[in-house]
This record gives sequence, structure tokens and C-alpha cells, in this order.
Amino acid sequence: MKKVLVATDKPFAKVAVDGIRQVVERAGYQLVLLEKYTAQSDFINAVADVDAVIIRSDKADKDVIEAGKNLKIVVRAGAGYDNIDLAACTQKGVVAMNTPGQNSNAVAELALGMMVYQARKQFNGGSGTELSGKTIIAKGFGMEVYAFDPFVNKADIEKDGVKVVATVEELYKKCQYISLHIPANDKTKKSINFALLSSMPKGAVLVNTARKEVINEEDLLKLMEERKDFEYVSDIEPDCKAVFEEKYKGRFYFTPKKMGAQTEEANINAGIAAANQIVAFFEKGDIKFKVNK
Ligand code: 3PG
Repeated sequence: MKKVLVATDKPFAKVAVDGIRQVVERAGYQLVLLEKYTAQSDFINAVADVDAVIIRSDKADKDVIEAGKNLKIVVRAGAGYDNIDLAACTQKGVVAMNTPGQNSNAVAELALGMMVYQARKQFNGGSGTELSGKTIIAKGFGMEVYAFDPFVNKADIEKDGVKVVATVEELYKKCQYISLHIPANDKTKKSINFALLSSMPKGAVLVNTARKEVINEEDLLKLMEERKDFEYVSDIEPDCKAVFEEKYKGRFYFTPKKMGAQTEEANINAGIAAANQIVAFFEKGDIKFKVNK
């Protein structure tokens, strides 16, 4: 009987785990749960005799992949797969997948929630500003919406009433609010730099629900120092968090734990998609969402 391990340091909502269990057991497989584990060695031990793994931001590093003697597939229930050692997977013939789009609504809602929180001065009783009429790269609140996306067809973006700009530089020049929805890879790491950020209009707010690695933190701190109107809200604490806490009170907000995909709906969508992808892989050889070579 095939074994599917769900290894989640930050567990899915119970309703999502129930749904995953149903998919797995209906296929005649066994579900093994490893939640809120405290050491990476717990993950390494748990993977030893399983055929498939479902993870969230958990690190499927080389040690994990090599410890999985029967391992054939690792599915990241979510968008970003920078936590999987793809080369180790490929070397061992393990298929790595993600579940694109399944938690994007939850992330978009958090981005807008953090914008409101910041625009209203973190609900501190003082006068804030409104989002209406401001520019942003996501749609909502009667804002003027701009986007730059090198992968999505211009017409597909425009049909949602979003204006497409030709370059990333133009986007930063135009928008008071920028919400980042980019992966962390060799091209994007540290790409959000002083040149881009300093070109944003007065009252600029950068919203990061992506990865801390895409920000050039040295440049970000330089800008925080030079532009008192600039604010940064993020779902991922930067490495330089202590400097923010010491010097920029009220001009930043960091969620205590990554919250973007933490809704029951997103857990159900991504978790069950992962389980279905594993069953489709074993039963039909389906590798539609494979991300390694
Ligand atoms: C993603 O890449 O899908 C998000 O970062 C979600 O991460 P999480 O599953 O750890 O909440």
C-alpha cells in the first residue's frame, strides 16, 4: 500500500486534512501526518518509508530527498517551490510539483488587508488615508490598477480592467502601492532595489507577500532612512527586522507567522489539489504540474 506523508510545520486546517485523507484513502493509499514538528530530523525520519510527500513551506532539502528510499513525488501545496531541492529530486528521479493558483485568492486578500491596516495608521486612532483613487498593481477598493507581468498575456490582464505597463520601472514610477507577486529565483533575488523603490510616488507603500529574498534589504533600509513617507508591510519578516523595530516604528508591519495562505479555503484548495496530483501521478503518470527537469 502506498504511503503519503503530509509534513507541515504549520498545519493545514482540520477540514483540509480531512479532505486530503479522503482523496488518499479513496485511492487505497495510507495517509501519514507529521504536524508541528520541531526538528528537521523528524521530517527526515518520517520520509524514510513513504512514496509521496505533501509539504507547505517545509524544507524538502537534499537530506530529506535522499532519506526517502521509496520516494517518487514531492508536492508543495502552494505556489513557491524555493523550499524544494530540485536538483536533488532530479538526481534521485523524484518528481517535484506545486499547486499553482490554489492559494492566490487568500494571498491577494491579505495584501489588501495589510494595505488598509497601513493606510489607517495601524488603527492607532490617528488620521489615515483612503485607498480609493490610489494606484496599485492589484484590483480593488476603486483603486486605479496597473500591472507588469512578463508571463501573462496583455489582453488577459486588460479584460479585468487592469492597465498594463511596458516595463517594471514604469510600474514603480506610477504606483503608490506596489504588491509583489513574484517567485524567488536567480533573476528576482534582491531585484527590488533602491532605483525602483526610490522612483515610487510620495506616500509609497511596498507590500510583500512573496519572499524576503526578492528585496535588496540594504537598499530598503537606505530608502526608509531617506524617505520618511515610505512604508513597508510584509508577510515575511526581513533579516533586518531589528533595525525596523528600532528606527521605523509605525512605518512597517510584519505578520508574526506567514499568513498569506492561512485560510481554510486556501488550505482545502492547495491540500486537496496536492493529494489529487499525487493520485493522478501514480495512477495515470500525470506530470502536468512538474517543476523539476
Ligand atoms: C506559497 O508559496 O504558496 C505561499 O508562500 C504559502 O506558504 P505556506 O503554505 O507556508 O503558508
